[in-house]
Amino acid sequence: MEPKTPSITAIHDHTYRIFPNDLNAQGTVFGGLIMAEADRLAHIVAERHSGRICVTASVDSIQFHAPAGHGDNLIFKSSINRAWHTSMEVGVKVMAEERTTMERKHIVTAYLTFVALDDYGRPTGVPPVSPKTAVEKRRFDEADKRRAARISFKKIGKKGSQ
Ligand SMILES: CC(C)(COP(=O)(O)OP(=O)(O)OC[C@H]1O[C@@H](n2cnc3c(N)ncnc32)[C@H](O)[C@@H]1OP(=O)(O)O)[C@@H](O)C(=O)NCCC(=O)NCCS
Repeated sequence: MEPKTPSITAIHDHTYRIFPNDLNAQGTVFGGLIMAEADRLAHIVAERHSGRICVTASVDSIQFHAPAGHGDNLIFKSSINRAWHTSMEVGVKVMAEERTTMERKHIVTAYLTFVALDDYGRPTGVPPVSPKTAVEKRRFDEADKRRAARISFKKIGKKGSQ
C-alpha cells in the first residue's frame, strides 16, 4: 500500500462555537463534549488514511491542560501520527480561542487508536504513514512508545477482568 503523509488527511482548524448549554456548573466547557468531538474528528482522519470503515479501539492520554468557557471558540486539530498493521494512532489538539481577540490557549491533548475493518468486520491492513516535517517525525517516533504502553495496559486490564 502507498504511504500517506499526515497533512493529506489532517483536519486543520475545525471550529466549534461554545453556547451556554455546553457549560458545566463551574461555567467551563463540559469535558465530555470535547472528548466526543475529538473522537468524531479523529475517526474521520483514520478513515481518510485507511480508506476503510474504522472503529475506536482505545483512547489514551486525554489531558485537560486548561478550561474553556463561554466567550471562547474551540479549535480542533487532528492528524495521524503512525500506522502499524491494522491500527492507527491519531492525535487531537484542542485550543480555546477568545472570540474577539483570537488569543489561543492549548487546552487538550488526546491520542486515539483506530482499527480499520474489512467488508466482514475483521481488522484489515492500512497504508504506512510517511512523516515529512520535523513535528510529524517526532510524533511518529513518540507514537511507537505510546503503543508499547497501550499494549501492556491492555494486558493488565484483561488480567483484572478475569
Ligand atoms: C478494536 C477491535 C476491532 C480489535 O479487535 P481484536 O480482535 O482485538 O483485534 P486484534 O487483536 O487482531 O488487534 C488488531 C489491532 O488492534 C490493535 N488493538 C486491539 N486492541 C487495542 C487497544 N485496546 N488499544 C490499541 N490498539 C488495540 C492491536 O494492537 C492490533 O493492531 P495492529 O494490527 O496494528 O498490530 C475490537 O476489539 C472491537 O471491535 N472493539 C470494539 C470497537 C468499538 O465498538 N468501538 C466503539 C465504537 S467505534
